[in-house]
Amino acid sequence: MGYPHKSHPRETPVLSKHFGDPEARTLAGWRQRGGYRALEQALGMAPADIVNVVKESGLRGRGGAGFPTGMKWSFMKPGDGKPHYLCCNADESEPGTFKDREIMRWTPHALIEGCALGAHAIGAETAYIYIRGEFTEPLQVMEAAVQEAYRDGILGKSAMGTGKRIDVHVHKGAGAYICGEETALMNSLEGRRGNPRIKPPFPAVAGLFGQPTTINNVETLAAVPHILTNGAQWYKDMCLSSPKSTGSKLFSVCGNIRKPGNYEVTMGFPFKEFLYDLCGGPLQGRKFKAIIPGGSSVPIQTVEEAEATLMDYEGFVAQGTMLGSGGVIVFDDSQCMVKQIARLARFYAHESCAQCTQCREGTAWTTRILERIEHGDGTMEDLDTLMEIGENMTGKTICVLSDSCATPVFSGLKKWRHEFEAHIKQKRCPMRAAVAA
Ligand SMILES: Cc1cc2nc3c(=O)[nH]c(=O)nc-3n(C[C@H](O)[C@H](O)[C@H](O)COP(=O)(O)O)c2cc1C
Repeated sequence: MGYPHKSHPRETPVLSKHFGDPEARTLAGWRQRGGYRALEQALGMAPADIVNVVKESGLRGRGGAGFPTGMKWSFMKPGDGKPHYLCCNADESEPGTFKDREIMRWTPHALIEGCALGAHAIGAETAYIYIRGEFTEPLQVMEAAVQEAYRDGILGKSAMGTGKRIDVHVHKGAGAYICGEETALMNSLEGRRGNPRIKPPFPAVAGLFGQPTTINNVETLAAVPHILTNGAQWYKDMCLSSPKSTGSKLFSVCGNIRKPGNYEVTMGFPFKEFLYDLCGGPLQGRKFKAIIPGGSSVPIQTVEEAEATLMDYEGFVAQGTMLGSGGVIVFDDSQCMVKQIARLARFYAHESCAQCTQCREGTAWTTRILERIEHGDGTMEDLDTLMEIGENMTGKTICVLSDSCATPVFSGLKKWRHEFEAHIKQKRCPMRAAVAA
């Protein structure tokens, strides 16, 4: 994906400012653009002071759950005599989400700087960047940048000549969605099967190798150097609506829309303006039908709900969904919702680690029933069965992969029930039939 070196005047390019600029990938180029000044400053600060700046900024995790980053870091107790670890979650497998790979592809040193800074703040000497197995180019770029950082003395036994040890290791996953779940990621890093662990104990108590661990998303860590350089107030001022949602956020946009791609806007940006102005609106002769705003695991919005949404954690919740990972998937009026939801369910069934019965069986049953309905072989009772299975898949398992499969089924049956019923009554997909006629 290319980047045109210019953004819409309503965008706020902080993390994406250098996307598309090959010189920003190199250490020399990154330094010319102000890189590593924040780390230099941070290494001269007490870890607790860095944690306080991040707390004060209001930064919340960009991996999906939106947990306050400074608070998460403060769970790591200094002076406990144990090795601490930082894990950077670069697994990015949530359907519709493609922002972390672009941060790594274009600005690898931004992530290294964020990791080194985060490691110092939580009292860790070692950080691991766990990259999704399929990310060939981001992996090569990250590995080359880490080597450059070691050669330059930014990383290693005396990071930036301060006498503090900071190591960053890049680890390639094998391409499993479940390894993005934080405890599955740690199991995978340890060389075990990537199954989520029961919590508690939480990672800050017993995480990687049984030691206190913090795990953060790529976008979260890449934001931290900017906060250190410009100050917590600068970050807090990037806020168009709720004061609980601060900073800029990358949204990946795909599907039936004129200008798909990554867009960085200030939290609280109006979703209507985002979809129609920044992203160009629907394709010629089409109308938007449904929007998944935060990656495939969040409830699907109707167009009316989406148009009334302000793009921050609170704004998406107020319109019945979640910000999630910021992966916006757009469906227009040519799409069959039964087919789309069946496709999502198939993804979750394929990716279930199969530890929990509700997930292993529930994702498979949901997929089979949805595909049956899609192909015209469903019954009205199937709709009740889908709801019942979904309820048994929600809040009952070790991780939320199971809930994520039920979520689009619930919103689909609530908002587009007529499409499900039409498939059952006509014993075929009405949309496919209309195209064939
Ligand atoms: C099934 C599943 C997959 C996940 N995949 C990712 C992922 O690819 N990247 C990510 O950052 N977080 C992912 N998460 C969320 C992580 O468990 C974790 O909350 C996140 O990495 C924390 O970082 P943050 O606080 O910076 O957001 C996933 C969670 C689940 C349940």
